[in-house]
Amino acid sequence: MSESLYRAWKMMESNGVSDRYRPRWHISAPVGWINDPNGFCRFNGKYHLFAQFHPYDTKWGPMHWAHWSSDDLVTWSQERVALAPDQAFDAGGCFSGTAVVADQALVLMYTGVTLPDESGKCLQQQCVATSRDGSIFSKATFNPVIPASALPEACSPFDFRDPCIRRGAKGFEAWVASKRGNEGVILHFISKDIFAWKYQNVFLGSLGTMCECPDYFEWNGKKVLLTSIIDERISDPYMRQAAYILVGREGQAAFIPEAEAQLIDEGMDFYAPQTTEMPDGRRVMIGWAQSWADAIPTRQLGLEWSGIMTLPRECSLRKGRLVQQPLRELMCLRGQMDRMDLGFFSGMTALEVFTGACRELLLELAPMTAQAFELRLMQTGNEYFLLTYDFNAQSLTLDRSNCGPSLGDHSRRTSNVPLVDGKLSLHIFIDRSIIEIFCNDGETALTALAFPNGTDYGASLYVKGTAKVLRAEGWLMN
Ligand code: FRU
Repeated sequence: MSESLYRAWKMMESNGVSDRYRPRWHISAPVGWINDPNGFCRFNGKYHLFAQFHPYDTKWGPMHWAHWSSDDLVTWSQERVALAPDQAFDAGGCFSGTAVVADQALVLMYTGVTLPDESGKCLQQQCVATSRDGSIFSKATFNPVIPASALPEACSPFDFRDPCIRRGAKGFEAWVASKRGNEGVILHFISKDIFAWKYQNVFLGSLGTMCECPDYFEWNGKKVLLTSIIDERISDPYMRQAAYILVGREGQAAFIPEAEAQLIDEGMDFYAPQTTEMPDGRRVMIGWAQSWADAIPTRQLGLEWSGIMTLPRECSLRKGRLVQQPLRELMCLRGQMDRMDLGFFSGMTALEVFTGACRELLLELAPMTAQAFELRLMQTGNEYFLLTYDFNAQSLTLDRSNCGPSLGDHSRRTSNVPLVDGKLSLHIFIDRSIIEIFCNDGETALTALAFPNGTDYGASLYVKGTAKVLRAEGWLMN
């Protein structure tokens, strides 16, 4: 084991990292910083999830890979650090990538970043590391297996990262993000043995000014590409860097989208998702619940950890659009159930039965004469996370401007959430510093972080006019 790996591993055992704001059933950084989920897969009967990891500080730094494993995607065990930047080809960092199972080994494909050259530039090249036991990884001696010299003309060796490796009919295939001029592109490579790769073609272009973290798979007869697109020409910080899904097919080895790209999550904190397939065929997705545009509140607060992953979400397609629902196995976390009396509501009502910092809630409302309602969540003292639904505009606004330290200038976000059969249904998960909202059976998902000052969270409902509450139940989560 290299010294860097050993040091990183020991760092994870550091005691005394505060658990203030740490979610109970979302994966979070053990210490230091995490971003992007990596290598999400199933190997030898267990799920594995890795993440970009900087063990020594609560901000981004030289990237390692943290590692968790799970039998059921609900309870995760922290594994030892999988990769550290300890070779010439990755001394600048082990950037994002994916995993594949080959010859009974778990193979990670990641981006090795070199240390800066005289002009301050770092090469990004694709590398592999393998493990027989799913715990200890050895980097291939042939690394980088896709060197910068394999790039087609005009593609930047300094923006060439996040390989998505899959087993294909003729061997292995990889899709890697790059920048051609000022355009984000996904490049396609093939290999018979994972070690020698051949460039094929530009798989898809016009992905903003750069794209990141492709996740490509076949799904119900369609081809699906998830990618996080950067477009420096966009001023809205949440749209300047956001994760999308494209559904389409393959023609002439290139990807042909059949519809416009769909934003995966309409909240403030969601990026770089990865998926894997469950043995029963379900496609499950986990994203990094943060935005590059945000301040890092746990850092501001002097805590020694930063970074949370979303819950695993079951994905499906409804009329060509992505639908996300919380993994049904999460129900096993449900503890005490509380119900509210149903009926007509107007004005302010404290939802006394819905207190607690770790909660699942189901609410269904029909407007009657109401123009809008406000749902205050994570309510402590004068603070709350505000969710406003406008029945006329059929829009939902998240507002965390009055909920703990500011995470940046952009604390509000509005999205279109149409009523379905004249009703709005909300399925909400609150886990100390993260809120995930699934509207109308998963047609819209919204993720946001918030760090209220108090610890005992309450909730209340304010209806402007009269609305009918058709369902209101919640569980304390274990
Ligand atoms: C996306 C990203 C990836 C890169 C990684 C570095 O959030 O920028 O493109 O591999 O983070 O940590």
